[in-house]
Amino acid sequence: MMSIRTLLASLAAWMGICACPVWSQRGGPAGYGNAPLAADEAEAKILQVAEQTERYLNVPLEDGRLIRILTEAIGARQALEIGTSTGYSGLWFALALRKTGGKLTTLEYDKGRAETARKNFRAAGVDSIVTVIEGDAHETVTRLKGPFDIVFIDADKPGYADYLRKVLPLVRPGGLILAHNISRREQNPEYMDLVLNNPNLETMKVNAEMAVTLKKR
Ligand SMILES: C[S@@+](CC[C@H](N)C(=O)[O-])C[C@H]1O[C@@H](n2cnc3c(N)ncnc32)[C@H](O)[C@@H]1O
Repeated sequence: MMSIRTLLASLAAWMGICACPVWSQRGGPAGYGNAPLAADEAEAKILQVAEQTERYLNVPLEDGRLIRILTEAIGARQALEIGTSTGYSGLWFALALRKTGGKLTTLEYDKGRAETARKNFRAAGVDSIVTVIEGDAHETVTRLKGPFDIVFIDADKPGYADYLRKVLPLVRPGGLILAHNISRREQNPEYMDLVLNNPNLETMKVNAEMAVTLKKR
């Protein structure tokens, strides 16, 4: 005999409605190309802001997911992003960092985009764990102390080698450095050579645009 609950769930499934808490409906249907299902209301709020944010050169969804997975998997407490834009990738960091008890520092030189990012972090309820630092990241990064568990480089492409040289001493052994748009080799010619020819680093391209580097222990 079918219980009322099972009956309602079957009916909901037949009608294409999710018979689960309201927040988990917000991510859209499950599936690799869609936003992930939210585990709780706080996560749903972040995903909703991410989905609605004004976009400016932000990473695609799949790279956002990767950022979240790596950050949460290594239990990162201190994350650094170079190139905030409107805060989209920062929101993916935040999904992980609210679980690990960590914080994100993110660097951006465009005032308007920095302001939009701050607005998005507030709307997503993660402003207490994200600090946006305005200014030229080639300079602002030198003021940071570290150690960082994970660094994401996604600003001016010709600057990647300089960013790497400056952040490498700040990354803890066992920490990760992610770099975006590595397919644009003509714009950041040195970067991949530097990470691939350093015996203290282990690097792989995880998809067309993202390289992940481990600073060996
Ligand atoms: C590709 S977008 C970042 C996208 C963001 N990581 C995301 O996925 O949501 C690059 C950003 O880096 C910023 N940028 C470029 N050169 C910079 C510099 N020297 N210092 C700080 N920010 C810079 C740009 O203003 C732009 O907003």
